[in-house]
Amino acid sequence: MITFEHVGKTYGDWTAIDDLSLHVAEGEFCVLIGPSGSGKTTTLKMINRLIEHDRGRILFEGAEIRSFAPEQLRRRMGYAIQSIGLFPHWTVEENIGAVPRLLGWPKSRIRDRVTELLGLLALEPERFRDRYPRHLSGGQQQRVGVARALAADPSVLLMDEPFGALDPVTRDTLQAEMLRIHKASGTTIVLVTHDIDEAIRLGSRIVILDGGRIVQSGTPRAILTKPANDFVADFVGREDIGIKLLSIERVSDRMRPGETAEGEPIAADASLRHALSLFVARGIDRLPVIGPSGTLAGAIRLADLTGGPT
Ligand SMILES: Nc1ncnc2c1ncn2[C@@H]1O[C@H](COP(=O)(O)OP(=O)(O)O)[C@@H](O)[C@H]1O
Ligand SMILES: [Mg+2]
Repeated sequence: MITFEHVGKTYGDWTAIDDLSLHVAEGEFCVLIGPSGSGKTTTLKMINRLIEHDRGRILFEGAEIRSFAPEQLRRRMGYAIQSIGLFPHWTVEENIGAVPRLLGWPKSRIRDRVTELLGLLALEPERFRDRYPRHLSGGQQQRVGVARALAADPSVLLMDEPFGALDPVTRDTLQAEMLRIHKASGTTIVLVTHDIDEAIRLGSRIVILDGGRIVQSGTPRAILTKPANDFVADFVGREDIGIKLLSIERVSDRMRPGETAEGEPIAADASLRHALSLFVARGIDRLPVIGPSGTLAGAIRLADLTGGPT
């Protein structure tokens, strides 16, 4: 879907991006992560030509991005940023409908789409559609920013620290919503973060940048279990790698179907990290598991957490 071939970008005599090659496949949730100044924002903005690369090639659906007019590219690529960038004098509905209006969608279709997106992002349509951004909390504004980026069913969603500056609860909710949206829509997503836990939770692939170069690219499991060098090992945190590994697996991956256990059950789609927390907090070694339909599906034992793939 998006391919970087030996891409470089220099600001004056500062090399911000150096010989970057990367392929983001259709439907992938690719997370770019790295320390401040490592080139994450520059990489993202080169995709929709907010920044022009000066060496190598960037392809979108097989064609060099310079063969598209920037506006054409941006209409096909939703873009959401931390500072939100909502138009202050436009209502929520006008903000979300910005790209569909440019594309000439009929009013009724825009209205229906706004209703759908507000619902998707847990903002009651009738309460929120006519409000102005200043009458929304930071978390609500950020949701509207995400809804706006999704409005015209973009082929690609580019997000630059979209959940930065949010309280942990709101961030957690929005991350869960992003995962749900990605699953439901199959949109290709490239998301920038500096938060390794966010990267592990969201990414089907994590690309670690340092000094404008890719130091490692792989699944969350590969990054955690086979860090390419000391920089990556330090970056993911050596001490709680086990806990992070538990966070990328579901109870359903390890449960024993049909087995029974006492007590308050855990959901099959909960993480093993959540299961560990319950084992420790309750001082028990078995938990009943309920499936998606709400019926008992089996049990999981404390010892099951240490088995399985590594
Ligand atoms: N317009 C610019 N002019 C000069 N240097 C810049 C400009 N934009 C970014 N840089 C530099 O390029 C490097 C990468 O920046 P950026 O992509 O914003 O990093 P990140 O998003 O990972 O924090 C940094 O060293 C930054 O200072
Ligand atoms: Mg940045």
